[in-house]
Amino acid sequence: MEHNPLKFWQFTDTHLYARQGKPEHFSAAILDKCIDLFLAEPDCDILLISGDLTCNGHADEHRALLPRLRRIKEAGKRVYVISATHDYGLNFIEECPDDGSNPLGRPGGKMYQSDLRGLYDEFGFQGNLAEYQRNSYVTQLTPGIRLMALNDDGDGRAFCGFYEEHLRWAEEQIKQARADGQILFGMCHHPTLPPSPIYPMVSARDMLGNHKETSSRLADAGLRVMFTGHTHMHNIASKTTAAGNTYWDINTASLANFPGLFREIVIDGKKMTISTKVVPKIMHNGETVQAIMERELDSYLRDLIEGAAHDYALFLEKCGGISLDRDNALKLKLPIQAAGKFVDAVTLGGLGRLLCCKIPPSVRKRSFKELFLELVRNIYAGQEQYGPETDIYKAVMALTGRVNQLFGKKLPPALQPLPAFAATLIYSPESDYEVEIEL
Ligand SMILES: [Fe+2]
Ligand SMILES: [Fe+2]
Repeated sequence: MEHNPLKFWQFTDTHLYARQGKPEHFSAAILDKCIDLFLAEPDCDILLISGDLTCNGHADEHRALLPRLRRIKEAGKRVYVISATHDYGLNFIEECPDDGSNPLGRPGGKMYQSDLRGLYDEFGFQGNLAEYQRNSYVTQLTPGIRLMALNDDGDGRAFCGFYEEHLRWAEEQIKQARADGQILFGMCHHPTLPPSPIYPMVSARDMLGNHKETSSRLADAGLRVMFTGHTHMHNIASKTTAAGNTYWDINTASLANFPGLFREIVIDGKKMTISTKVVPKIMHNGETVQAIMERELDSYLRDLIEGAAHDYALFLEKCGGISLDRDNALKLKLPIQAAGKFVDAVTLGGLGRLLCCKIPPSVRKRSFKELFLELVRNIYAGQEQYGPETDIYKAVMALTGRVNQLFGKKLPPALQPLPAFAATLIYSPESDYEVEIEL
C-alpha cells in the first residue's frame, strides 16, 4: 500500500506535576514549550506520549494535562497516549468502585487505573482498529501505517509486562498488519531491551516483565520497532532473534528530567529514520530548567556521598534509598563517615596509588566522585563517550583490571571480567540519538 512520508514526534515521561493552589512546576513549562514547538512544526501532525504522563497520578495533574492535550487536538493535530503506573495512585490498580463519582473530583485527588479509560478515550484509547482491555489499542495513523499502543502495567507492582492473552493479542495484530500489507510499529512504557547493561542488574523489575522472551516473540511475529520510556535514559538497542529477526527498542529520555530530549520519526516507504530533539532552553525561577534537571539527577548520589563525609543528618535522611535503615546507619557511623570522606576526596591518581596501577597523568587529578556522577549522567543522556583512545578509558581499565585481579572470582558472573563490563558502561560506540531502520 502506498503512503507519503509520515513524520511524527514522541514525548515520554512528561511527569506533569501540578497541585491546585500551588505554583506551577517546571514540568508544566517544559510541556507547554514542547507542545508549542510541535504545533509549529510543519508536516508533523501526530504526537505519541508513551506513559508516565503525570507525576503522581493525582486528579489535579490530570486536570492540568487534559486541556493541554485538547489544545493540540483543537489545532487539528493528533495525540496518542498510553498510561503507566505514575498515571494513577500506585495503590489503586484495582477497579474503581462504580459509585458514579467524577474521577477528577474525588477527595484527595484519588485516581484508579480504570478511571483513565474514560479520561483519555479521545487520545487513542478508543483505538479505531482494535482494542484490548486496560487501554491497549491499534490505530491507523495514515493509510499504510499502524500504531500498536500497549499498556504494560501488569499487576502495577511486581510485574509490569504483558500477560499471555495480551501478548497473543499483540502477536495477532502484528501478523494481521503484515497480511494487510501495512507497516505496524509498537509503543509501550517499560523497556523491552536493556538501555544499559547495568540496568537489569540494579533494576530488574523496571524492565518489561519477561523482556527477553517477549521481545523475541514480538520480533518473530514481525514487529521491528518498539518505542519505550520509563528509564528516563536515552538509548537505542537492537537484537536479532534465533530465527533471524531484528528488533529495535527506541528508549527515550523523560521530557521533564535530565537531559530533556524527545524523538522525531520519519517513515518513508519501508525506511524509518529516528532522530533526537532537545527540550528548548526555558527559564524557571531565574534558572534554566536544564540546570534544575541536571542537579536533580545527581542530587541523590551526591547527597549520599557528601552527607556521609560532612553532614551525617543528611546521610541518615537519604540512606533508606540504598536499603540501609537508620539504626544500622547510626551504628556504622564511624566507618561510613571514613568511607564517605575517602570517596568524596579521592582522585583517580590517589586510587591508582592505592591499587598500585598506572593512571595517565592527564586525569590523575580528576575527582573520582565527579567522574562517577558524570558517567551516570552520560548513561542517562545516551552519551557514553569515553572510548579506548581516551585517558579516562585507560584509567578505568587500569583500576577495574586491578580490582579484577584481586577479587575477580568473587564478583557476580555478570560483572566478569570487570574491565569488559566497565567498558560497556562508559563507552557506547553506536548512536543513541539516531538510527535508520528497514521496516
Ligand atoms: Fe515509569
Ligand atoms: Fe517515568
